[in-house]
Amino acid sequence: MTRYTGLIDQYRARLPLAADARAISLGEGRTPLIKLENIPRQIGFEGELYVKFEGLNPTGSFKDRGMTVAVTQAVHEGARAIICASTGNTSAAAAAYAVRAGVTAFVLIPEGKIALGKLAQAVVHGAVVIQIHGNFDDGMRLVKEIGKTTPVAIVNSINPYRLQGQKTAAFEIVEALGRAPDVHCLPVGNAGNISAYWLGYCEMAGIAASYSDYHQQGRFLDQPLTNKRPKMAGYQAAGAAPFLRGSAVKDPETVATAIRIGDPQSWDLAWAAQKESGGWFDECTDDEILTTQKLLAANEGVFCEPASAASLCGALRDIKSGKIAQGSTVVCTLTGNGLKDPDIIMKNGLQGLVQVPAERGAVEKVLLAHMK
Ligand code: F0G
Repeated sequence: MTRYTGLIDQYRARLPLAADARAISLGEGRTPLIKLENIPRQIGFEGELYVKFEGLNPTGSFKDRGMTVAVTQAVHEGARAIICASTGNTSAAAAAYAVRAGVTAFVLIPEGKIALGKLAQAVVHGAVVIQIHGNFDDGMRLVKEIGKTTPVAIVNSINPYRLQGQKTAAFEIVEALGRAPDVHCLPVGNAGNISAYWLGYCEMAGIAASYSDYHQQGRFLDQPLTNKRPKMAGYQAAGAAPFLRGSAVKDPETVATAIRIGDPQSWDLAWAAQKESGGWFDECTDDEILTTQKLLAANEGVFCEPASAASLCGALRDIKSGKIAQGSTVVCTLTGNGLKDPDIIMKNGLQGLVQVPAERGAVEKVLLAHMK
């Protein structure tokens, strides 16, 4: 058995990297595709419902897939510094891969609006953390302006190498199932990931996505593994749902801070993915998102962050309504790890803790009361 060394080594022939580019990797990718058992039974769903748990990447989110390729390319082109705007996960990944590459990471984050674990990651990896009095969209605007005049490589998903890396999650899913799912559900913020998955699924089917040239044609398999592509379902937080409103949202607000974005950069690509796949966009309220996060954790043993729960939240609703047909194979991407944002759970979770004296009898009483 050979040691797994990350997605560039795994998929190099299908990524637009120069042959002599040194891979900057932390062993990202090859995340588990977990089949849910309890929730489908509870709701009477007879299809197959999977979660692709991207929270198990090295920095705890799917961003590592894009960052390994973007930083590899940037360093190959001679960059000494990288920059991004972020709601938290991109900054964590940028910080870690910058250390690995020996370059500086500058990260612009909305002050007070990113989960503490993500901020800790940027700090511990030594990124230059610039908190702006504004939101993600302001940060994105600034990064694009600065990128025009300053020699720093932008590693947000407007960098096409990010999407090239992120498309590999679709490769892994088709390889694991031996076919494409019927429906693929994702949370949508800046809209890069849904665009990347569509690229990946198209390549697996040997069909070009309409924007694959724009994003540098990857190489197709000689023998496509599947002739099918899934419907792409993108779910947004109701307070940050430009794809539902039809245009940018000025002051996006949601408890799912990772997707607190009003002006998605991959607007055209995500619309193309939705249309070409015959999929849809929908929205979930903050309450629905948090309820689903807890449902998943308490019934399946999987702890994702709030934004990630939007995919499953939408999927479950669409299964119940029949929009997703009985018998379908459905994959939901869980984009980030719940450990990044424990505050959200502990706000109410402390009430559930039991306190007793340090005595055997007291502990046994609690056990008796709670045995299943
Ligand atoms: N889920 C999580 C956990 C995220 O961090 C993000 C985006 C998304 C979903 C949405 O993905 O932007 O490709 O549509 N986070 C970015 C960041 C914006 O800065 O970490 P998208």
